This record gives sequence, structure tokens and C-alpha cells, in this order.
Amino acid sequence: MRIITFGTFDMFHIGHLNIIERARELGQHLTVGVSSDALNFSKKQRYPICNEHDRMRIVKALACVDEVFLEESLELKADYIKAHKADILVMGDDWQGKFDHLKPLCQVVYLPRTPAISTTQLIEVVREIK
Ligand code: CTP
Repeated sequence: MRIITFGTFDMFHIGHLNIIERARELGQHLTVGVSSDALNFSKKQRYPICNEHDRMRIVKALACVDEVFLEESLELKADYIKAHKADILVMGDDWQGKFDHLKPLCQVVYLPRTPAISTTQLIEVVREIK
């Protein structure tokens, strides 16, 4: 089975590692779509702390990741799934139900998020340190 997952993976943390490792356990090949700086700006009105090149390098360096590409549009999920011949789309359960329309194309699995950590939270913690 070929797996695909997506994310920003900014300030790479244990929640990111957990979902990537668990996604890979569902099959034999894992492709990760790392969202571009421009896509993040359009979604959150701020650029990631780490740029897209560095975020892609970090994700690509993981032993459980076979392939990485730049996700440039949220609207292209179906095209990315087809291009990478993915059998299963894995997303964190913060996205529960949001990708069910892709079920004719591939299985869609939502994995539970790791509690108590996120990039947003890390940024807030660092900001508070004077
Ligand atoms: N993720 C997770 N557990 C966490 C944080 C993230 O399983 N504690 C998963 C998300 O569900 C997603 C992937 O990791 O499938 C990439 O998430 P991303 O949005 O890059 O990370 P966040 O830490 O959630 O970033 P932000 O706070 O900016 O939303």
C-alpha cells in the first residue's frame, strides 16, 4: 500500500513525527506533501518560521519517509493522490471528515493528534520567554 499525507511541519515536533511514523506503518511507501510558504500565508496570514526548502529537507531526512513534494494548493489533493498513486490518505483528526469526498479515489484515514503540542503553541511559548 502507498500512503500519502500532508502538512506544514513547521518547527518540526513530536506530534509531526508521531503522525508520519504511524502513517508509514499503514503501508510500504510514504509520500509527504509539505505545504508551501505561499500556501501557508494564504491560509494563516503568516509565513512559517522555517522556509519550505528547510521543512522539506527535514521531512525527507526521516527514515520512514520515502518521498517528499511541495504542496502548492489545497484544491489539488485529488491530483496529488493520483500523481503519487496513493492508496491511503492519512490526516490528523483535526481534519476529521474534511477529506471524505476523496474516498472514491483512495481510503481516507484520520489519526488522532498527539495531545498538547502544536507549532502554534510552540510559537506562543517561545514568544513568552523574555
Ligand atoms: N499533528 C498531530 N499532532 C499534533 C500536531 C500535528 O498529529 N500535536 C499532525 C496534524 O494533524 C497534521 C500534521 O501533523 O496531520 C501536520 O500538522 P501541522 O499543521 O503542520 O502542525 P501543527 O503543529 O498542527 O501546526 P499549527 O499549530 O500551525 O496548526
